[in-house]
Amino acid sequence: MAHQSNYKPNSGFEKWMDERLPIIRLGYDSFVDFPSPKNLNYWWTFGAILAIFLVIQIVTGIVLAMSYTPHVDLAFNSVEHIRRDVNWGRYIQAAHANGASFFFFAVYVHIFRGLYYGSYKAPREVLWILGVTIFLLMMATAFMGYVLPWGQMSFWAATVITNFFSAIPVVGDTIKTLLVGGFAVDNPTLNRFFSLHYLLPFMIAGVVGLHIWALHVPGNNNPTGVEVKSKADTVPFHPYLTMKDLFAVMVIMIPFAWFVFFAPDILGHPDNYIPANPLVTPPHIVPEWYFLPFYAILRAIDFNVGPIDSKLGGVIMMFGSIVVWFFVPWLDRSKVRSGAFRPMFKWFYWVWVISFIGLTYLGAQPAEGVYLFFAKLCTAYYFLYFLVILPFLPRVEVTKPLPASISESVLSKSASQAAE
Ligand code: HEM
Repeated sequence: MAHQSNYKPNSGFEKWMDERLPIIRLGYDSFVDFPSPKNLNYWWTFGAILAIFLVIQIVTGIVLAMSYTPHVDLAFNSVEHIRRDVNWGRYIQAAHANGASFFFFAVYVHIFRGLYYGSYKAPREVLWILGVTIFLLMMATAFMGYVLPWGQMSFWAATVITNFFSAIPVVGDTIKTLLVGGFAVDNPTLNRFFSLHYLLPFMIAGVVGLHIWALHVPGNNNPTGVEVKSKADTVPFHPYLTMKDLFAVMVIMIPFAWFVFFAPDILGHPDNYIPANPLVTPPHIVPEWYFLPFYAILRAIDFNVGPIDSKLGGVIMMFGSIVVWFFVPWLDRSKVRSGAFRPMFKWFYWVWVISFIGLTYLGAQPAEGVYLFFAKLCTAYYFLYFLVILPFLPRVEVTKPLPASISESVLSKSASQAAE
């Protein structure tokens, strides 16, 4: 940890432990005494919300696995059995399925917060890269989880998505066969997806550990983007941020409980309540809402570019739209970190957010006519934002003056509020 440890063992046992495995010291320095900027707003509570949802997914997932059967003849019915017969099964299954949506909602807020306040900028590049890695692992986990109930959408989503891998030149077919465990989605696919769906969340938990470690070296960024300069700029993590995080977690639990108890299937696709049938293709194959922006990008490429056909082009753009995030710390060349002090950036940023939401909508529409036109437009802006606007905007943008310190910005705000 970057800051000086102030931990004093309180008992004989703590002293004994501290000399052998200073884990209580680590916990105290990281989550009690950790100096945190005093101006963090509620967008900074989403890290804690994410951590809670990761725990919810793992705990409910482990319980579900006790009654679930990963076999093509039994999987669908085993999920129905959980929902109808297993004690509390209805709630545990609903918490897991809706928990995935809340997890993704929270991660999008968390990522967009980082993109607005420039939290990816030096010295937090590794923290950001670990975040993008977590996001990729989350996507893989959610995709494989969706296949497990073995409904129509499960089966056809697995067929469509695994098929994209065959677009990769030379090795594509081999990768696809390996992924699917044969030539078509079938029992081996279900088995390996179940195995990996169980494994990956623990890998996510491991990378989250590194993410928080990498956060605790430079400490948090904050809405001004100005680094902490003295102790006066900070408050201890406990009780200030523990309480703020706890409050935010309790608030988000309200809509979560509404979904789980009152509308557990509202986010599900009706076709996934029909058992998988390889002989009947549903009229529209749509992924879960949190994949829609990337699905829209994939389908927006309906033309060939030289030797790259539309299928490979779509796959490249879809993966590219996330891979580009890895490079954001170096693509954004602004010396001013926070969007709050960048008048031009703000506009481009909000247009990007709106176009991302637009892609979410478009991903659920048929890939034709006006929908396709807008999907192409939003895809073009998506890449323009990262590859042109972030690098070149700082050349023309006049930024607002930065406060000398976090304390100064907080005090000037409270002084102006007092004057009102
Ligand atoms: C399971 C998923 C994740 C968990 C549990 C998690 C957890 C956290 C926590 C607890 C914090 C500190 C509190 C806060 O700033 O909200 C944090 C900060 C941060 N996270 Fe994540 N995170 C996750 C995913 C991601 C992803 C996907 C990204 C980016 C692609 C990301 C980027 C960041 C950045 C840049 C910070 C520093 C924010 C700042 O100080 O301004 N995280 N994360």
